[in-house]
Amino acid sequence: MDGDRIRWALAASAIVLLGWTQVTGRAQSQQAQPATTPMATKEPSTQEINDAFVQRTSRQIAGHEQEPAGQVFKNIQLEVLKKAPAARLLLIMNLGYSRALGVNCKYCHEEDNFSKEISAPNAPPARWL
Ligand code: HEC
Repeated sequence: MDGDRIRWALAASAIVLLGWTQVTGRAQSQQAQPATTPMATKEPSTQEINDAFVQRTSRQIAGHEQEPAGQVFKNIQLEVLKKAPAARLLLIMNLGYSRALGVNCKYCHEEDNFSKEISAPNAPPARWL
């Protein structure tokens, strides 16, 4: 597979995820948050780790959630993602990329610098997108 085909495949999947998270995100926001089990010693699940990263990022961009992701975040390359609201980009990262691969955000991102070029061995480098 050459670079162009990979780029197209990634762009196509991002477009599908955009539509999907629009529906899923709406459904989720209408549901009550599930009660968390108060077990202090329990290891957080992958989903809990991802939700915590999304919450942290949401606090950092508070008030700008509906602005285009390309304006809110520093290093978005893919045109369709640039135009998506910042909150939806986080849904795509959480419910699309991470859940689909069964990984947490740190698989592709540096914990303290999500804008940095993606460095994980199996992750798509942002420059491909
Ligand atoms: C499979 C790899 C992968 C996973 C897992 C992943 N991301 Fe991303 N993320 C990317 C890529 C690739 C981009 C760049 C997209 C672009 O340039 O269009 C990105 C961009 C971002 C950005 C924009 C950063 C900036 O400043 O430009 C944020 C914020 C982000 N991701 C948050 C998250 C969060 C939160 C999680 C976990 C819930 C997560 N990501 C999981 C691959 C991933």
